[in-house]
Amino acid sequence: MENKFSVYIETYGCQMNLSDTEIVSRVVKNAGYDLVDSPRKANVVLLNTCSVRENAERKIFERLSQLKKFKQNGEPFVIGILGCMAERLRHKLLEETQVVDLSVGPDEYRKVPELIQKAFAGEKGIAVRLSRVETYDDIEPLRKEGISAWISIMRGCDKFCTYCVVPYTRGRERSRPLNSIVNEVKKLWDEGYKEVTLLGQNVNSYRCPQSNADFADLLKACALAVPKMRIRFVTSHPQDMSDKLIETIAEYSNICKYIHLPIQSGSNRILELMGRNYTFEHYLGRIEKIRSLMPNCALSTDIIAGFPTETIDDHQATLRALEIIRFDGAYMFRYSPREHTKAYKMPDDVPDKEKIRRLNEIIDLQNKISKEINETEHNKIHEVLAEGPSKKDKTKWQGRTDTNKVVIFEPKRNVATGELIRVKITNSTCATLFGKIVD
Ligand code: SAH
Ligand code: SF4
Ligand code: F3S
Repeated sequence: MENKFSVYIETYGCQMNLSDTEIVSRVVKNAGYDLVDSPRKANVVLLNTCSVRENAERKIFERLSQLKKFKQNGEPFVIGILGCMAERLRHKLLEETQVVDLSVGPDEYRKVPELIQKAFAGEKGIAVRLSRVETYDDIEPLRKEGISAWISIMRGCDKFCTYCVVPYTRGRERSRPLNSIVNEVKKLWDEGYKEVTLLGQNVNSYRCPQSNADFADLLKACALAVPKMRIRFVTSHPQDMSDKLIETIAEYSNICKYIHLPIQSGSNRILELMGRNYTFEHYLGRIEKIRSLMPNCALSTDIIAGFPTETIDDHQATLRALEIIRFDGAYMFRYSPREHTKAYKMPDDVPDKEKIRRLNEIIDLQNKISKEINETEHNKIHEVLAEGPSKKDKTKWQGRTDTNKVVIFEPKRNVATGELIRVKITNSTCATLFGKIVD
């Protein structure tokens, strides 16, 4: 059949979605369709969407109303929703928006080409079954050229934190076989990648379905397989942050000394209502263990402000937690009620204005701490993986430290993308380090 489909995919949400877009791209390409880099060149636009907060969904509805115009010039044009919103809203997207032709959830991406074809034949399609086994292990993601690659190692989440839609949109937890992941790391090194990030909603509850190896075993196997590959991972859950895992991270120099460990709240009462299964004291114990073995390990976290019933005292406990732990950085959100979650039935009793006030207080404190920590980096030398010209200032370059901090530096000599260079830090803000190459 003559190839008549040009597909453009736009990605929202977390890194899992970015990685899934690479999987969908491969599926679509294998079906013989073209992939293009703008909706203007396309006759199929797919939005890979996020449902984690109401704002994330609002953005997609806005985008859909912009895309409507492509349908109005007479040529056949297909709009599809992939990802978490497709899973959460199912038929509603097709029925309520009028512009959506297909809706495909995270475990049904193999069906995308077939549904595109049907859509052109005038048949709206939906595929939102969740699977207990789908990991797309046999599909090689279609990656953009570069030095850093994502590897999805597990899918789904079984934690059911009371505020979170992810277990409903992504289904049950399941992991890929260890050998297959290690082979992917080796292959990526041979292709020129210098850094991989192992991805999952809960990477540290990884279990190899063949050998029962855990996440620490997987990290070790990857670190040993390619000793020069920088290995990152995200996200870890405090409950599964075992001593063995922390010791493994400490032991191998190519496992990056950066851990993203969401705390969510500093109040034990709120943590319990959130169903997080740890106390602040347990969390602090994990941080102390990490710092005792890796004093320079960078730490970041997630915080939710204004969870149901959160009092000023609970909020103060969160601020205190930030002051005690002193994270390098944090992703901070105000609570957004999500239908069907347990917390949805709790009273959303912190008024919006107060949620925003608390959130701003958290952001101000964290920015001050991040800035102070970054100032202690001045005059230190870091190994930086050069990524390329800085987005803001093309005369400068940007890269990342082992601890995942962005460094902007002057390319004194011809640096190449993917080169590890030594940079002395000379200045900083709360979000960025600035430095000079040392020869
Ligand atoms: N699996 C990861 C991340 C999931 S979503 C983890 O457990 O950490 C990323 C972050 O979004 C969460 O850590 C949480 O801080 C935030 N989040 C999730 N649901 C939310 C909601 N309903 N309202 C506000 N923030 C939310
Ligand atoms: Fe959501 Fe909790 Fe699972 Fe993270 S661990 S994805 S916050 S349910
Ligand atoms: Fe959003 Fe789904 Fe990721 S809800 S955060 S895109 S798993």
